[in-house]
Amino acid sequence: MQNKKFIIANWKMYFSYNQATAWLEKNKKELETCLQKNPITLIICPSFDALAPTAQALTKSTVALGAQDCSPHEEGAFTGQVCAQSLQELGCTYCIVGHNETQITWKKDHSLLLNKIDRLLEKGITPIICFGETEEEHTAHTTEKSITEQITTLCRFLQQKKPSKQILLAYEPQWAIGSGKIPTATELEITIKIVQNSMAQHSLLGSILYGGSVGIETLTILKNIPGLDGFLLGKASTDFQELKKVVSLIL
Ligand code: PGA
Repeated sequence: MQNKKFIIANWKMYFSYNQATAWLEKNKKELETCLQKNPITLIICPSFDALAPTAQALTKSTVALGAQDCSPHEEGAFTGQVCAQSLQELGCTYCIVGHNETQITWKKDHSLLLNKIDRLLEKGITPIICFGETEEEHTAHTTEKSITEQITTLCRFLQQKKPSKQILLAYEPQWAIGSGKIPTATELEITIKIVQNSMAQHSLLGSILYGGSVGIETLTILKNIPGLDGFLLGKASTDFQELKKVVSLIL
């Protein structure tokens, strides 16, 4: 396991092209200073349109570039999709897949999601694989069953692929995203154990992250959960002061 902690800044569609470039211009120096003091891996994931200028702004920076999604296909007649090859050419070293706000999640279509992971691995891009239970499953107390199914399918697939790099698994309960609610410490510990056990059974190395309403307030609880290697932030990552605080709090 790597010792370095991860923070993923998933900017979703909060910024337009101009707003994303202005944010970077204004904050990149201070961000770099903050990372020198707090040596974590920070991955900024802007929307597709802002990938090129973000890559440009992050030249010579230790901040990594990630995309928010990718096509499950290599090339061809797929209107509106972006292929892993383009992400690689743009300098992305990470890419989120299976996020609940995209069309393709574990619940909707396993095979499409696995194809996306495959396309990314072929290009040497580390997938940040989101998984988690739905609100209904959480209410019905079937979280463990749901997580076990998702993680077992994923680990079986990854075992065949033998990824050369560590993969990132982001536990994102659907009901916790943007809601201000987070799972209890016990709920988190159960999920982390399921993932750790399955990875060990399949001889896989990976880092386990948590995402869903992460901010300075919730971090006081979340940072003490053993087995978490980092966090995926949505809204909070767009506020530079909050992002800086989160980075300094997790070490
Ligand atoms: P949030 O989003 O931090 O705004 O809840 C998290 C996510 O969607 O990953």
